[in-house]
Formats: sequence, C-alpha cells, structure tokens
Amino acid sequence: MRAGRQIPESAVDQRAPARVRPAPALGGALVPLAVCVWLAVGSGANAPPLGASLRVIYTTDTQGRLDVCGCSAGQHGGLPRRATLLRHLRSEAQAVIVIDGGSAVTKVSHVDPFARAYRSMAYDLVLHAATALEGAFAEALTREGVDTLPRPREPGGVACQVLEADEGLELLVLVTPDPAGADADALAQSLRGAIQAATAGRDPAARRAVVVITGESPTGNARLAERVGDEVDLFLGASFPVITSDYREPIAPGPVAPAIAGGKALTVIDIGFPADGGRPEVAARYEPVAPDLLPDIEVGAIIEDYYASQKLSAGLEGDAPDEFALDYAMRGWADAMVCAECHLEEYGLWRGTAHAHAIDTLAGRGRLVDECLTCHSEGFRRGGSFNPEAIVPGDGVTCATCHGDGVVHSMTGRVDAIERHVSADLCIGCHDEERQPLGFDFEASWRLISHGSDNAPAEGGA
Ligand code: HEC
Ligand code: HEC
Ligand code: HEC
Ligand code: HEC
Repeated sequence: MRAGRQIPESAVDQRAPARVRPAPALGGALVPLAVCVWLAVGSGANAPPLGASLRVIYTTDTQGRLDVCGCSAGQHGGLPRRATLLRHLRSEAQAVIVIDGGSAVTKVSHVDPFARAYRSMAYDLVLHAATALEGAFAEALTREGVDTLPRPREPGGVACQVLEADEGLELLVLVTPDPAGADADALAQSLRGAIQAATAGRDPAARRAVVVITGESPTGNARLAERVGDEVDLFLGASFPVITSDYREPIAPGPVAPAIAGGKALTVIDIGFPADGGRPEVAARYEPVAPDLLPDIEVGAIIEDYYASQKLSAGLEGDAPDEFALDYAMRGWADAMVCAECHLEEYGLWRGTAHAHAIDTLAGRGRLVDECLTCHSEGFRRGGSFNPEAIVPGDGVTCATCHGDGVVHSMTGRVDAIERHVSADLCIGCHDEERQPLGFDFEASWRLISHGSDNAPAEGGA
C-alpha cells in the first residue's frame, strides 16, 4: 500500500538528502526559522498535466474515537469507516496527500491501534504535540513507517515539510503552535521567511500549494491569513467548536478550512493548478464518515484486536469472587436483586427496560471494556473494574445508579437512607450529545422507564 513512498534511486538527486538551508536574515524578527525536509509521497515525477489537481485530506482531534459505540442509530465516525472513505476519496483524485493534525489518541492503550490503523490508511504525515502521549504515538507511527512532524513549541515557531505527490505536484506544509500566543506580525513574517527558504532554488514553475496548519479556530486563522497574504493557499486549524456537531454546513470559500472532531467527518481540499500557471484554486468541503459506509476489513480487525486486549485487562482487574458479587454490603452498593426483595413492582418494570440489559448489549458485541462499561455497568462505575466471569446479576444501569448505593436502606428500610428524586442532569451524564444526537427529552424518556406511583420526577432538580 505504501510501496509508492520510497524515493526512487533515479530521483535521488532532485529529492534527497533533506535540505538544510541557512536561515536568511529576517529584519530582526526574533523567531526561529523552519528547516524544511523534502519527502516523496507519490510514486513518480511525471510532468504535471495541464489543469492538474491535488487532493489534501485532513483530520484532527479524533480524541480516541477508534470506533462508534453504536449507542444510537446513525452515528458518524470510526476508523474502519474512515478507511473505506479514504480509499474512495483516493480513487477519485489524481494525487492525494493525507494529513492528521494531532490529538488522535487520548490514552496509552490507543497508541498502538491508532498507529497501526494510520499505517493501514497510508497517512502521509501526522503532526504531534510535545506531550508524553503524543510523543509515544509519534514513535509508534515511526515504527509503522508513517512520517511525523512535531509541532513547534515556542510561540512564533514554524515547522516545515514538503510533500512531493504524484504528477509532480508539491505541498509545502508549515506548522505553527497556537498563533493566539504569538506576535501575529512576527509569525506572519516567520511564515513568509519559511516559505522563501523552503522554495529558494526550487523549480519556479513547480506546481506547489502552500498550507499552514495551526492549532487555531477558523476566526483566528482568518486573522492570520490577512496578515500573511496570498503566499499561503490554505489555513487548516483545530476542530472548532471543540466538539463539533454540525458538519453538514458547507465550508465558506476562502483560504481557511475548519475540521471536525471525533473523526465524524474529514476535511477534503481540492487544489486545482490552473494551466496558465496562476495561483492554485482551493475548494474545501466536509466528507462525513457516514453510518452507511461499510467498515474496512483491515482497520476493522485492528480495532477488534484492541477491544479483545482491553476485554482481557478489564477481566483480569476484576477481583469479584461469587460471594463478593452477592454480598452487597461488602461490595458497597445494592444491586437490583436486593431491591427486588421489597420493591418487586419497580423491579419488574425496570427488568423490562433497556437499562436492565446494558451489560448484555456490550457482551453481545464483545465490548465488555472500560470505555463502554463506564456507562453500561454500575459495578464498573463503582468498583473501577469488571469481571466477566462474575457479573453481578442486577448490574447494568440499575437502581443504585439513580437512587444511590442503597446499602443502609436495604438493610433497614429507612426512607431517609435512599435518594428518591433523580435529576435530569443525572440522565444527561450518560444520555449525552454523542448518544442522543437529536437531544435528550427528559419527560418522554422518563415515561418509557417510569416506575412507582408518583411519576413526576423533578426536572433539573437535585
Ligand atoms: C457516555 C455514556 C456511554 C458510553 C461511554 C457508552 N454508551 Fe452505549 N449507550 C449509552 C446510552 C445513553 C444509550 C442509549 C441511547 C439511546 O437511548 O438511544 C446507549 C446505547 C447503546 C447501544 C444501543 C443498544 C440498543 O439496543 O439499541 C449499544 C449497542 C451501545 N450503547 C454500545 C456501546 C459500546 C460498544 C460502547 C463503548 C464503545 C458504549 N456503548 C459506550 C451510553 C453510553
Ligand atoms: C428491606 C426492604 C427494602 C429493601 C431491600 C429496599 N427498600 Fe426501598 N423502601 C423500603 C421501604 C419500607 C420504603 C418506604 C416505603 C413507603 O414509604 O411506602 C422504601 C422506599 C423506597 C424509596 C422511596 C423513598 C422516598 O423518599 O419516598 C425508594 C426510591 C427506594 N425505596 C429505593 C430502593 C432501592 C433503589 C433499593 C435497592 C438499592 C431498595 N429501595 C431496597 C424497603 C426496602
Ligand atoms: C449510567 C448511565 C445512564 C444513566 C444515568 C441513565 N441512563 Fe438511560 N440508558 C443508558 C444506557 C447505557 C442505555 C442503553 C442500554 C442498552 O440498550 O444496552 C440507556 C437506555 C435508556 C432508554 C431506552 C432507550 C431506547 O431507545 O430504548 C431510556 C428511555 C432511558 N435510558 C432513559 C433514562 C432516563 C429518563 C434517565 C434518568 C432518569 C436515564 N436514562 C439515566 C445509560 C444511562
Ligand atoms: C434511570 C434511573 C432510575 C433507575 C435505574 C431506577 N429508578 Fe427508581 N425512580 C427513578 C425516578 C426518576 C423516580 C421518580 C422519583 C420522583 O418521584 O421524584 C423513581 C422512583 C422510585 C421509587 C418510588 C416509587 C413510588 O411509588 O414512590 C422506588 C421505590 C424506586 N424508584 C425503586 C427503584 C428500584 C427498586 C429500581 C431498580 C429495580 C429503580 N428504582 C431503578 C429513577 C430510576
């Protein structure tokens, strides 16, 4: 899949080694100047055809979303579907470059599956911040043969990389930290200097587009674009808003393209190089990682591996022998079977709701793993571990989830030892935007699971 990425021997003179250029004087601006490395990502140096076009595909802030949970119908995202979409988007275009802007992983256990998946999807460049986690991710990517580029740390710093794609097309990528923390004029000057340094001595007729990747919102990037001028064709930023819900809006024309968090959509930028050699024309749009895409088999297998290993670790942590599962006082919370002794009617109604089957749902999908159990199992929420060999019979989203541990109440029947009222906020803690894309209707939802004589819980109250 990545065979085309090797630099052909015959092309070594033009492409290698990485050029280290002395920084030209920059009129006293105290900003470190980028040194640009050239990297072949395409297969050959054909003469660019008239009206050639380069497709850049950008993702950022995937935030650990390896796959959708399936908690609601119509969920967007997931790496297996992203892989399918990328394959399709590649097949349509002359030359393609795929870049990730960072914040893909959110915990150490993600590093390996993400690195393998990114290799399988043939990412050309992955940016990373100077954190231990992103550093570990960059190392794993390097092992997998995926190129990485650290984001510069100092305000005003610029990192730089040139990607040489098929058809003799080039993409000059400049990366800055959050420009909000920088002197904007100095940063603009630094960017212009880096562009000059990177392109000095290169074929002036080369078909080259210049993209700046920042950690900024579209507004911040628009301000920077004004300062830099038209030497830069495109500014890509962080996802914005941080948790984006709407990727159905078209991207406004202009040099600034936003991104979508959580892997729900890709930003696709088609860069056309006019036959007369004028400035490239840029058109950006979102391509949703839609629910109807078939998951890619190779990336799907990587994700299944990951969940299988997580299942194992969740199981090994569990220290619940049978008597521990049954002795609720020792365990520290009373499960539904305990409450059933005195509240048979409520128990019967609860048994008929999805809450009672939340563990079965995960088990049925091979997803008895921490990141799912956190909402689907009270035992996990309270104990921080889960033993699939010793599932507490009344576990799930259970009585204690809403009414409190109930230990003293169950032993004594004392009414002041149990929480009667349940606030809508508690529901929304699990029924969040991700699970309920259309919003959570408290009244209607409560009606579906109501029990007891007084069916009017206090909305929003404590
Ligand atoms: C933030 C809490 C939360 C997390 C984390 C979570 N879920 Fe859910 N899940 C829910 C809620 C709430 C629903 C019910 C959504 C609805 O009413 O449409 C649900 C529903 C589901 C359903 C649909 C059940 C059905 O019968 O239709 C599946 C499947 C599911 N979750 C699987 C998972 C998996 C797999 C994971 C881990 C990758 C996960 N969930 C993580 C809260 C969560
Ligand atoms: C030993 C019997 C017993 C057990 C076990 C028991 N309860 Fe109760 N519960 C009672 C009695 C008695 C009342 C008071 C009934 C009344 O006032 O009508 C009560 C009342 C309640 C109330 C209403 C409180 C109020 O302020 O009106 C809730 C809610 C409740 N129980 C939940 C639970 C839950 C959840 C469990 C399990 C964790 C549980 N109970 C276990 C006996 C029990
Ligand atoms: C600890 C997390 C959690 C809390 C708190 C929670 N739920 Fe749920 N809820 C879930 C999960 C998980 C499911 C899906 C279970 C499954 O199908 O496996 C669910 C499913 C449901 C469903 C069924 C949806 C369907 O389409 O069948 C309703 C209705 C519901 N919840 C209402 C509520 C209400 C009302 C509250 C607050 C009083 C609440 N939930 C609190 C996690 C939670
Ligand atoms: C998803 C949250 C949720 C779960 C799970 C849940 N309850 Fe409730 N329960 C409520 C709410 C909300 C009320 C209504 C509170 C009010 O009246 O303000 C309620 C009311 C009650 C009452 C008082 C009924 C009355 O007639 O006064 C009892 C008793 C009770 N629940 C027991 C249970 C038992 C037993 C279980 C488990 C088998 C359970 N609940 C599971 C949310 C929940």
